[in-house]
Amino acid sequence: MEATLDMKIGNIKIDGKLFLAPMADVTNLAFRMLCKKHGAALTYSEMVSADAVLRGNVRTTYLGLSCEEEKPFAIQLFGNSVDTISTAAMIVEEKYSPDIIDLNFGCPANVLVKDGSGSALLDFPKKVYDIVSDVCKKVDVPVTAKVRVLNNMKKTLDIARIIEEAGACAITVHGRTQAQQYAGKAEHEYARMIKKELSIPVIANGDIVDGLSAKQVLHHTGCEALMIGRAAIGDPHIFTEIAHFLHTGEQLRTDERAQRVADFKEYMRLLELYGLEAYVDIRMHAQWFTRGIKGGRHIRQGISSTREKRSIIQLIESMCEQLPDMATNNDFHGN
Ligand SMILES: Cc1cc2nc3c(=O)[nH]c(=O)nc-3n(C[C@H](O)[C@H](O)[C@H](O)COP(=O)(O)O)c2cc1C
Repeated sequence: MEATLDMKIGNIKIDGKLFLAPMADVTNLAFRMLCKKHGAALTYSEMVSADAVLRGNVRTTYLGLSCEEEKPFAIQLFGNSVDTISTAAMIVEEKYSPDIIDLNFGCPANVLVKDGSGSALLDFPKKVYDIVSDVCKKVDVPVTAKVRVLNNMKKTLDIARIIEEAGACAITVHGRTQAQQYAGKAEHEYARMIKKELSIPVIANGDIVDGLSAKQVLHHTGCEALMIGRAAIGDPHIFTEIAHFLHTGEQLRTDERAQRVADFKEYMRLLELYGLEAYVDIRMHAQWFTRGIKGGRHIRQGISSTREKRSIIQLIESMCEQLPDMATNNDFHGN
């Protein structure tokens, strides 16, 4: 049985060890609140462009949106220049009051890499140092970093040490290289070695999909926390399931179809409550909530041919009525 130890990131107390990963087009305020309800101890906004913050881009308002009940929550920034990222960090701190500002050194998407942002920065350790240390100087909230691993242990440990020396209060390690994108298996040996080397909390990320994988990664790495990404898409209840397994060593028995329907309806309610419907592709999210459910393909076909929110909800509700046995598989392979 895993003990629940409180941890701190800087001065922020975190009540639990399961974090929701930042995910573009997924982790809006409504989705994050749903994951909080299911036990996510810390939630992250999707990555926000530092340039867009400086331009006052309207979409960033929705990305930074949070509410008191969400606390603690982190805003993640990406960019390629020390000044731009630091200035953006000051703006988001002032405007959205996040508890933590996270810096993206992990995104492998071409559009960011070509621009020298995200995981491209890992090839420039001095610049990583300058970004982290400057942001730490300019904001009061704790600053954290999220990295991918490099293609050898020494380089990965070097960059992790640099991030700590520059003043970061925690580091998340996604155990894949930039070149791997989302292919292959996450290698958690890197997180284990970083945990041994560093004094700040280390958060392990990659392929944590259920209680067993969570337990194995915690045990193997000794990390303070785990970050869960794709397994939560369309299935925020994963946090409850994993927490139950870590606490009792047993699988939680739930009617998964009924749970998904209830969660989807709650998600729709929260999107409306926070005024986010116009920003979110509801059909895409509806498709995700039927993933891994036997017969879900049939529902997804229906969803793709309707635009009306009420009809989408009805289709999702019909999952409980029509379908026989369900089986789950974590078949989501992200962006
Ligand atoms: C749809 C999608 C969007 C993502 N967007 C971001 C992002 O905005 N910032 C970030 O640091 N990582 C992003 N990631 C990477 C995840 O945070 C996470 O590191 C990765 O999915 C591995 O964890 P998992 O195996 O639990 O999914 C994204 C991943 C997916 C699938």
